[in-house]
Amino acid sequence: MRIGVYGGSFDPFHNGHLSIIRGALRCGLIEAVVVIPTVRNSFKRGRVLSAAPYRFYMTKDVLESEFKDEPVYLSDIEFSIEGISYTAITLERFCDKAYIVPFLMANGVKRKRAEEDHSYFWIAGSDILPQFDSWYMPDKILKYANLLAASRPGDGIDVDSEADRLEKIFAKRPEIFKIEQVEASSSVIRKERDFDKIPEAARRFIITHDLYQADNPLDHVSDRAVESFMEAAIWMYPYLGCKRLLHTLNVGLLSCRYALIHGCDPDKALLAGALHDCAKELDIDLQRRMAEERTGDIFVEKKLLHSPAGATFASREFGVDDPEILDAITYHTTGCGNMSLLSKIVFLADKLEPSRTYADLTQMRITALRDLDEALRMCVGAVKDKFESQGRDIHPLTRDFMESLGL
Ligand SMILES: [Fe+2]
Ligand SMILES: [Fe+2]
Repeated sequence: MRIGVYGGSFDPFHNGHLSIIRGALRCGLIEAVVVIPTVRNSFKRGRVLSAAPYRFYMTKDVLESEFKDEPVYLSDIEFSIEGISYTAITLERFCDKAYIVPFLMANGVKRKRAEEDHSYFWIAGSDILPQFDSWYMPDKILKYANLLAASRPGDGIDVDSEADRLEKIFAKRPEIFKIEQVEASSSVIRKERDFDKIPEAARRFIITHDLYQADNPLDHVSDRAVESFMEAAIWMYPYLGCKRLLHTLNVGLLSCRYALIHGCDPDKALLAGALHDCAKELDIDLQRRMAEERTGDIFVEKKLLHSPAGATFASREFGVDDPEILDAITYHTTGCGNMSLLSKIVFLADKLEPSRTYADLTQMRITALRDLDEALRMCVGAVKDKFESQGRDIHPLTRDFMESLGL
């Protein structure tokens, strides 16, 4: 099979990306396109890019809605590669039979076809041609794949002379295909929050998760906190499904915002919020053992186990040792008496993050920006009413929490 591989940060996925994929499918040189969102981008590190799962799942939504019956597949291979995402390393792993055969079969390709020897093409815009020789290990890239560059009218690149030049250096001539002009730049879209030039599915995703806010909370935390947040997002990827992973990251960002408003440490809030549900989809017996390790038999209900278990998991596997962060994770389901400001923030952000739609949260969201305790009273008061009307027991820790809020 001739397979085109299209890597990018897709932050956000826009119409320019769509036109490259469509053009590549139509050019006749390849039979399938595999899209690989970068996880740790070598050019744009730190707070410039959204955490990898946001970009990955936005891309997934777009591909599913735009290429329903076409051979366009999404690969999460970079989540399992350590360190910066270099094309040479990604391709080496991707082209390995141990990866590509099961990957193609999982995407509906018959075994016989998946086991063939494939040829690979690295798809990109023609703007990569003038700088390709300065990429990390260009020889290695070309050992696995030829370049397949999209040329747009008026892009200012003389593709023929660039192809001649690269052929002289690497003894391999890039292939060129033509696409229509599409004006779209991820950085401009992010900055101007102008979502006209992105596919509908990406627009929906951005609105659901409130991405690219004008005042990014990550601009107000330390570099180390940004790094920890980005790494936590990658670490949790295998343990949580899409919805839960994005929820827990949303809680991190909203906790950070609340911390900045209410005078709490935004670095701690970002990490505590982001990790609060890290154990929620682990095996229930494992959750129980981890919960007991942290809090004995205080939490017995299945639904609650993940909160103390999360503290154990985050501490053991992700190396969190800050007691305040671990407490915020432990008590995010029940609350407790004498809760720290950090724990209150995570508790509330868990209920109010942007993708939550279980009730009309407008008033609570507005109140949370002004008066945290008042928002907590609204939120916990509603839980109390619901439990009482259903005749359910309220956890003793939640009772202590209510009392401390004057409920
Ligand atoms: Fe939770
Ligand atoms: Fe949660």
